[in-house]
Amino acid sequence: MKTVSNIKVLRNYLAEERLQNKHIGFVPTMGALHEGHLSLVKRCLEENDVCVVSIFVNPTQFNDKNDLEAYPRTPEADADLLEAAGCHYLFVPSVEEMYPEPDTRVFDFGNIGRVMEGAHRPGHFNGVAQIVSKLFDAVEARRAYFGEKDFQQIAVVREMARQLGYATEIVACPILREADGLAMSSRNRRLDSKQRRKAPLIAKILKESLRLVPQMSVQEVKDFVIDTLNNEPLLCVEYFEIVDGQTLMPVNHWDQTASPTGCIAVFCGQVRLIDNIMYT
Ligand code: PAJ
Repeated sequence: MKTVSNIKVLRNYLAEERLQNKHIGFVPTMGALHEGHLSLVKRCLEENDVCVVSIFVNPTQFNDKNDLEAYPRTPEADADLLEAAGCHYLFVPSVEEMYPEPDTRVFDFGNIGRVMEGAHRPGHFNGVAQIVSKLFDAVEARRAYFGEKDFQQIAVVREMARQLGYATEIVACPILREADGLAMSSRNRRLDSKQRRKAPLIAKILKESLRLVPQMSVQEVKDFVIDTLNNEPLLCVEYFEIVDGQTLMPVNHWDQTASPTGCIAVFCGQVRLIDNIMYT
């Protein structure tokens, strides 16, 4: 595995690979890697000749400075995991490399960018779009891999790629979970042992809510999920929305869409966790 921190150097390596007709796959991350990330790397290796992984904790997508500072960083362990997984290029740029000058671009993704995470983390998706477009420019991948754990992020990235005319295919990969159901996340390591024991309830209640459909109305299912989780002392639901899986418009009746999807954000103590479930 080659570790590269400079965009030009990376582009030169990848140009060489392309000359040999190699297909390049790309997995953007912010590091603190876990099995969820590695499942994207595995899929990328299966479907492409060359696998590029980036690790960059992108300041422009953090609307809370403390969250940016508290974000876990484990560079040595990450490099070891990627090497063992068979990754070919690890791209680890500095902030100056990615943002030699401030990125002033303002994107408009319509409803997709405004609801849920967009409403609760102002500026977050604009920052995601800024960095993903810069990374797409650097890598020029045939395919890029994203996890459904960040369901709305995939919709935003697809829309960004459409608006900017990227040829990179966006591949959505399933959520990897711990044995107790908790969606794997770099943030899980910030949970203390009591919180860690409570956090799997989020996935458990989402799963239970599947059995209520379609007998219960959309509103009743929403109330069930929100009320059950809020009854737990350590958990506080920020939002739970049931939306159309493509447009992310709110769903009022089950037969309104072919892909009703429940998206949730819950505070477990100070740690903000997200998860989602498809009601199909
Ligand atoms: P990060 O949170 O590090 O996640 C990198 C990729 O791993 C994302 O596509 C995310 O959805 C995926 N992922 C995380 N947990 C997963 C899980 N349990 N199962 C499957 N996939 C999972 O998302 C970001 O970084 C950033 O916003 C980024 C796209 C890199 C832009 O900065």
